[in-house]
Amino acid sequence: MEVYVFNNYDEISNFAAKMLVNFINEKPDCVLGLATGETPVGMYKKLIEYNREKIVDFSKVKSFNLDEYRGLSGSHPQSYRYFMNENFFDHINIDKRNTFIPDGTCEDVEKECSDYEDKINEAGGIDFQILGIGSNGHIGFNEPSSELYVYTHLASLTEETRKANSRFFKNVEEVPDKAITVGIGQIMKARRIVLLASGSNKADIIGKLLNGKISTENPSSMLEVHPSVAVIVDKEAAAIL
Ligand code: F6R
Repeated sequence: MEVYVFNNYDEISNFAAKMLVNFINEKPDCVLGLATGETPVGMYKKLIEYNREKIVDFSKVKSFNLDEYRGLSGSHPQSYRYFMNENFFDHINIDKRNTFIPDGTCEDVEKECSDYEDKINEAGGIDFQILGIGSNGHIGFNEPSSELYVYTHLASLTEETRKANSRFFKNVEEVPDKAITVGIGQIMKARRIVLLASGSNKADIIGKLLNGKISTENPSSMLEVHPSVAVIVDKEAAAIL
């Protein structure tokens, strides 16, 4: 695992954006795995600037997001489809038909999950996966548990996660208690993984991520056995390394 520690959020965002730009320039038709949440927003902003300056071209890129809340349609302001359009896709030259996010309002969840898994595999799998991390160690919405799912599935969100995500909703009751998420297997199959973390509330979990032990109670710890992971953190998130 490579670990890069920077002074602040702006620096991690820029570093991650540059990594991604170099990657896309080497493989213009690559398949990206993307995350929502607060952490990657700065990186998306930089990528928008680089796209405007024609330093990177997304026209042949495909993307698959990690997750979507169950019950929210893409037009709901808190849905992850809406988030991705607002914060990224609407501002770059990606073909929206090549951007995939699970459908939170699908009738048949099992079918949606297996179709999503198939679509990723048919695209050739994820070349470059961006991850944030929950302070409880979740990646995607793979929450701490005695068992983890390999494949895309309907996940129950922990109270901790719902509380953390309530900052985007009116109150915690409005936060869906379920989400469709890519499983640990698909994340681990990504050829390159870049995990971003910022702020002191991530310091404990970043310490655990790098402690040389694996536990399903800390889903992010699976990354320790992946051959190509970069962890990009600011000083606060690196406080106990
Ligand atoms: C989002 C996702 C989550 C977030 C995590 C951290 O698509 O899969 O695992 O990456 O909850 O969220 P932030 O960045 O808001 O701290």
